[in-house]
Order: sequence, then structure tokens, then C-alpha cells
Amino acid sequence: AAPLTGFGAGKVILLGEHSVVYGYPALAGALSRGVTASAVKARKPQLALADPFNRAQRALLTKAFLRAADLCGNPSVKVSLESELPLSMGLGSSAAVSVACARVLLKAAGKKESAREVAQVALAMEQEFHGTPSGVDHTTSAMQELILYKRLPDQSSGKARGVKSPRPLQVLVALAGERSPTKKTVGALRERQARWPERYRRLFREVGVVATEGAKAVEAGELEALGDAMNVNQGLLAALGLSSPPLEEMVYRLRALGALGAKLTGAGGDGGAVIGLFLEPEPAAAKLLQQGVRCFTSQLAGPRAL
Ligand code: PMV
Repeated sequence: AAPLTGFGAGKVILLGEHSVVYGYPALAGALSRGVTASAVKARKPQLALADPFNRAQRALLTKAFLRAADLCGNPSVKVSLESELPLSMGLGSSAAVSVACARVLLKAAGKKESAREVAQVALAMEQEFHGTPSGVDHTTSAMQELILYKRLPDQSSGKARGVKSPRPLQVLVALAGERSPTKKTVGALRERQARWPERYRRLFREVGVVATEGAKAVEAGELEALGDAMNVNQGLLAALGLSSPPLEEMVYRLRALGALGAKLTGAGGDGGAVIGLFLEPEPAAAKLLQQGVRCFTSQLAGPRAL
């Protein structure tokens, strides 16, 4: 029989990373690229890992997988993974792995695999990877659309609504500098905000307002307004201490190439992913690739170009 498969999409955060951890809204979109998990019959639940994972990564992935399998009633399958996402680029590869595994395990167990069930099982895996994630990554991956996400006050999970775009939303994602571990940037920010809570709360609140305005701009088809929200969000991320020279330099490069807005996306820190909103991202991507920048383009929402 053909193996069962489950897909988990990669994600980018358009607006609101980090403040989302503190309960403020974030706008995030699913990439067309992601991770596919395939399952074949076996004696007990098992994760088959090929390269490029090292020993520590294998141990962590296996632990997370077995926790998810347990939540699904331990279906007797061996699961293997295939990824189209550049690893540890801040594009939600861990969430995509979690969602792909959750989907295929639920299928193998003959259970319902609605976005809600998938997100619940994927969250258990994400907790193994990240400790206390806001949930925006795996929720975006499970819903596979543009969403406005907010963590619930009890922090157990979040609520999300789909954001429809009447226009195609096209982005360029580029890598700059050395990526910082998400745990590190989230932890350092937690210390600063614990020391100076009022100042940081004001900034988080403002990021949340900008994210909500950005979602409205998307729905109205006002891409320039969305781009402006992204630029303002970048300024606020810098104020929060999450930017750095390599990220800033890439942000300005994307703006010079015609981005309507550009900002870091995901964890930030010493380096990582930068996102630019473009009417036509291809010429900019071609130029950057020629200059040796790792980058790719994706449509996040709206009617697909023919
Ligand atoms: O490291 P990434 O790209 O998956 O981004 C994490 C997003 C944060 O808001 C920084 C953390 C979180 O849990 O939401």
C-alpha cells in the first residue's frame, strides 16, 4: 500500500513576533514550502531520521515524536521526513515537522485531522523543541493560511482567525548573518522586560496595534499600508533590542530593491531571516542570488498568479 503522508507548511511572521509571546496579536502566513511526513506499517511508533541531523537533534526529535505518538494512541507506524525548507532559517521548520508528524500520526490512528486536532498534537512537539512557544508557528502551519494569532491569557494555546487578501501577497525572504537560537533572543528579552516592565509593555502594545492595523490593510488590499506597518514594526523590534547590523543592512537592501516594507522575521538577534513585501519579488531575488545572498520568494495569500 502507498504510505500515508502528512504536510506541514513553513511560516513567516509578517508582523508581531516576540510581543506575541506576551499575548499581543501577530500576523503570520504559511509558505507553500514545508515538510512532508510519510508513514509505513511497523511494530511500534518509530521516527526514521536521515542526515543532516546530529545526535542531540535526533534525540530531541525522537522524544518529541514519541510524545505526539502517545497523544494519538501510539499507532504502529514508522515515520520518515522530507523537507523543502532551509533548516534553522527561522521559517518554522520545527513547527512544520511537528505539524507533518501530527497529521500523519492522526491519520494512521484513524482519528480526525482537523486543523484544531493537528495543532494540539503539534503543540506538544513544539513544547519539546522550544519550551514555551507562543504557538504562532505551528498554528500557522496547521491552518495553512494567513492568520491573525493571539495567545490566550492562560498561555496554553492561542486563537487565530484567517485573514483574506484580495491581492496576491508576495514576499522575498533573505538570510543575513549568523542565526541566533530563538531560545536565546526570547530569553534575553524576557530579562529586559522583567527589569523594566512598563517600558517594554508599551512597546509590545504598540507592536500589537501595528499587527492589527496590518491585518486590516491586507483585507483592504492596501499593500503600501501593510509595507509601512512592517517598516514601523522593524523600528520597534530594534527598540526591543532584537535587531543587529547584518539584519539592518539586509532590511535596507530590500527597501533599496523596491520592497514596500522590510523587517526581520522570527527570532531576530545576531542574524537570521529578513522579509520584504514586493509587488514583484523575482527581479530583486535574482539580483540578491547573483550577489550570493541566500533567498527565495513565496506567495503568502490572495489569488494565485497564473
Ligand atoms: O524562531 P522562529 O522564527 O520560529 O520565531 C519565533 C517567534 C517568536 O515570536 C520569537 C517566539 C514565539 O514563540 O512566538
